[in-house]
Amino acid sequence: MAAADAMERHAAGNSNMSTQGKTIVITGVTRGLGRAMTGEFIRLGHSVIGCGRSEKEIAQLRMQFAPPNHFSAVDVASDAQIAAWAKNILETRGVPDLLLNNAGLINRNAKLWEIGADEFSRVVDVNLKGAANVIRHFVPAMVARGSGVIVNFSSGWGRSTDAEVAPYCATKWAIEGLTQALAQELPPGMAAVPLNPGIIDTDMLRSCFGGSAGGYPTAQEWAKIAVPFLLKLGPSDNGRPLTVPVRGAND
Ligand SMILES: NC(=O)c1ccc[n+]([C@@H]2O[C@H](COP(=O)([O-])OP(=O)(O)OC[C@H]3O[C@@H](n4cnc5c(N)ncnc54)[C@H](OP(=O)(O)O)[C@@H]3O)[C@@H](O)[C@H]2O)c1
Repeated sequence: MAAADAMERHAAGNSNMSTQGKTIVITGVTRGLGRAMTGEFIRLGHSVIGCGRSEKEIAQLRMQFAPPNHFSAVDVASDAQIAAWAKNILETRGVPDLLLNNAGLINRNAKLWEIGADEFSRVVDVNLKGAANVIRHFVPAMVARGSGVIVNFSSGWGRSTDAEVAPYCATKWAIEGLTQALAQELPPGMAAVPLNPGIIDTDMLRSCFGGSAGGYPTAQEWAKIAVPFLLKLGPSDNGRPLTVPVRGAND
């Protein structure tokens, strides 16, 4: 009995909960919100399939969280890399229940006309085209099964604007529109949701807020609220722009 329990814990990625958890795909798991969600989903007994570009952090995640959790060094901006990653995951881990398009970049603080074409393209390639790449290669299997929730990480700056973050705002407003159109395409039983996570002290926030980012919740504090919120999403949420109920998110 003890051996069976130990095997089950191993299969659940060292969680104390059963293996009946959900399969959750998260992009951008190496830092910030993605990293914090990974730990919290696994703690609650779910399996996380994650990607990010930083190979060192991906290797650490593999050491820390046993299969069926699975971590790969993949760039969401590459349609070919996402195609190969999704094919492997769908064949070996099955169809995700929750698909979280979390990976993102922000431009350095600067006026729109001061931002070069390369930097502008990079923000669009990751924040907007990256989410579309992931949807292109994972969602057909979810549609074939007829269930699953897709969450595209938006921002307060997907519903309002500020100076010096125009490229980022443009991509997050686009994510809101892309997600609502996707919601109109999905069959009954599924949902697509644009999500404003709130304001959280991560590398991204420090890049635009500087030291005052320290006044906001940590990613770990945020994940304790966000993960149960994400696990409750279902078909009735399809097309609803949502916000994680954390301090400051509705300011
Ligand atoms: N923090 C906030 O207050 C806040 C507010 C509103 C919205 N958001 C949104 O929430 C999401 C997460 O933000 P965060 O604050 O956690 O940012 P972060 O700390 O900068 O982390 C970003 C994550 O995205 C990954 N990433 C970036 N480019 C990637 C690429 N091309 N391919 C794969 N992964 C990539 C990074 O990993 P690698 O560098 O290893 O690739 C990292 O794991 C973003 O979509 C962001 O726009 C955050």
